Amino acid sequence: MSDPIHFNELWRHVVSARPLGDAHSVHGPDHWRRVERNGCVLAARTGANITVVRLFALFHDCRRENDGWDPEHGRRGADFAAELRGEWFDLADTEFELLRAACIDHTDGHHHPDVTIGTCWDSDRLDLGRVGMIPDPQYMSTSFGAEIAGYGSIRPWIHLAEEFLESPETHHHYPRPAETPDRQQQ
Ligand SMILES: [Fe+2]
Ligand SMILES: [Fe+2]
Repeated sequence: MSDPIHFNELWRHVVSARPLGDAHSVHGPDHWRRVERNGCVLAARTGANITVVRLFALFHDCRRENDGWDPEHGRRGADFAAELRGEWFDLADTEFELLRAACIDHTDGHHHPDVTIGTCWDSDRLDLGRVGMIPDPQYMSTSFGAEIAGYGSIRPWIHLAEEFLESPETHHHYPRPAETPDRQQQ
């Protein structure tokens, strides 16, 4: 069994290594944090692998070089995760393959039958409100994702993330480099 992942330290490292400097860009860490929150809400009911979902949130857009046309950013995110695996976090081969596939295809793939990959993609798409788009239920892979998209807000279900995140209500907060590392808070 793999060691537990120290998500705060991993976040700090990935945030500080990102090529896109603006933390508040539509594809920056504020977005990653909301994707993580969405993924935790979804996983509470879809049965997705929560570790893969949380790592997807962190890695899927972390190697974007701009906020426009950058079709290879998912593959670069997967490659970066592979670089850090073993040094910054451990993950079984089967889980890593799910993470890799979810990152590489997250911009092109519409639906995925694997519940973990589908949950990753739905968690990303449920944050389309940030760019003025209302998530469309028909582009969701999971029925729970479609239910949330149909309602138009994740807020009624946000408490489900508490099982995995200490404070889903403050999900915009992510560790800045100056903050003290806290190994207790994962
Ligand atoms: Fe992306
Ligand atoms: Fe994204």
